[in-house]
Amino acid sequence: MAVDFRGHPMFPSTGFNAPTRFEADIYDCEVWGKIPSDIDGTFYRIQCDFQYRPPQNEWPTGFNGDGHVSRFRFKDGNVNFRSRYVQTARLQAEREAHRRLYGVYRNHYTDDPSVAKLERSAANTHLYWHGGKLLVLKEDSLPWHIDPHTLETRGIWTFNGRYTATSMSAHPKIDPVTGEMIAYGYQAKGDLTNDVAVYTMNRHGDITHEVWFKAPYVGIMHDCAITQNYVLIPLVARTTSDARLKTGEPMWAWDGNLSTMVAVVPRGGTSKDVRWFKGPARNTLHFLNARDHKDGRITMELPTSSGERDASQIRRWTFNMNSKKDTFDEEVVSTANGVLARMDDRFLSLPYKYCYVGNRDPNLPFDKARAGGMGGFVTNQYQRVDVNTGATSSYFVGPVQSLQESCFMPRKGGRAEGDGYLMGIANNYESMSSDLVIVDAQRLEEGAIATVKLPFRLRGGTHTNWFGADELPSLVQA
Ligand SMILES: [Fe+2]
Repeated sequence: MAVDFRGHPMFPSTGFNAPTRFEADIYDCEVWGKIPSDIDGTFYRIQCDFQYRPPQNEWPTGFNGDGHVSRFRFKDGNVNFRSRYVQTARLQAEREAHRRLYGVYRNHYTDDPSVAKLERSAANTHLYWHGGKLLVLKEDSLPWHIDPHTLETRGIWTFNGRYTATSMSAHPKIDPVTGEMIAYGYQAKGDLTNDVAVYTMNRHGDITHEVWFKAPYVGIMHDCAITQNYVLIPLVARTTSDARLKTGEPMWAWDGNLSTMVAVVPRGGTSKDVRWFKGPARNTLHFLNARDHKDGRITMELPTSSGERDASQIRRWTFNMNSKKDTFDEEVVSTANGVLARMDDRFLSLPYKYCYVGNRDPNLPFDKARAGGMGGFVTNQYQRVDVNTGATSSYFVGPVQSLQESCFMPRKGGRAEGDGYLMGIANNYESMSSDLVIVDAQRLEEGAIATVKLPFRLRGGTHTNWFGADELPSLVQA
């Protein structure tokens, strides 16, 4: 059966997000402007690409495509680009069959029987360098790891067999003080189980602690936040059930009648120490940061909206650990309208000031004619938000572009929070190609200081990360 994507509802008519399906190498990319010579390391990003046509009722956001990693290696003002598929068991089985074998998003009833016993990860959500491994993560499965330089797939990683949960979330957190990684899995004993497992890995990648507990309902637990004392894992009102899966639908459905529940887990604690805090149903997937306060409060900031279709705002949730109250308080920090917010990760779990959010400002120009009919409601700014005062500064990408998730990179030798650069992929709908834009994170209004030009498009990505040459193995530094 030949591959033919025409008529699939998931791929917009402009074609920018149509599957790309190739791997590339570019030595010394074209650069407009000047890349600061102190940028030395690798920017990684990952997209869902589609080797084969998914079912018609695939989840509209398309998080069921094959993991496809891009890396931009920066050194001495030059950039080398490489992209590769993660060679998962799933991709290899489908290539052998010349067709899609996995059905809709996380619904095993819709899979071809031939893959029932295969590891199902599409390895398409996030990448983390920790303990000498570049992990590629997908929350329904175990991590894969790939070579950080060649992007060659190495295999599934179970932390020397010590990671016994059946899945690991795509959003672990790395403690900048201890170097530990806090990782967790939900549906951790298989599909539809309400088991949650939280692991601590030391800076060498060895598991030093784990705790298991049960969630009050089976819902999505996509991201977590850490403080120096606690791990916070929200459970939000996007749920599933065996009955739903049997209808052949993708896993999740929004249920605004449910409460948001947040598990607050003491780091190093036991299942008895886990406390659940309740709040109104909130549509949210990604969390910014959290911190401890001397008076026993924990605060956490996150982009969130009240319902499935409402604009996003950055809110602060407060948990009082000195009170028996089982609810959290909520306030709005900023109306920045974007679901992805990043920060200077050197301040993760600690007091901090700034986040960087991909904002949608409908008052900025969008040239629909030049953009080939692409809709105007796109992320068109990177906005720095002071989470204490709400003050903002912004970078506008231009009238025919939209922005993918950004990533903060510290300036070499700089220690102050926010002293560094912001980088991310800009989709150009006019040229149907992608740029990597680099902005001074303290001078967003001045625009991009350098733009790496690619002669092709990178379809909408999921997540990004930056790892400096001092963190990565020497092969990458060569
Ligand atoms: Fe995510």
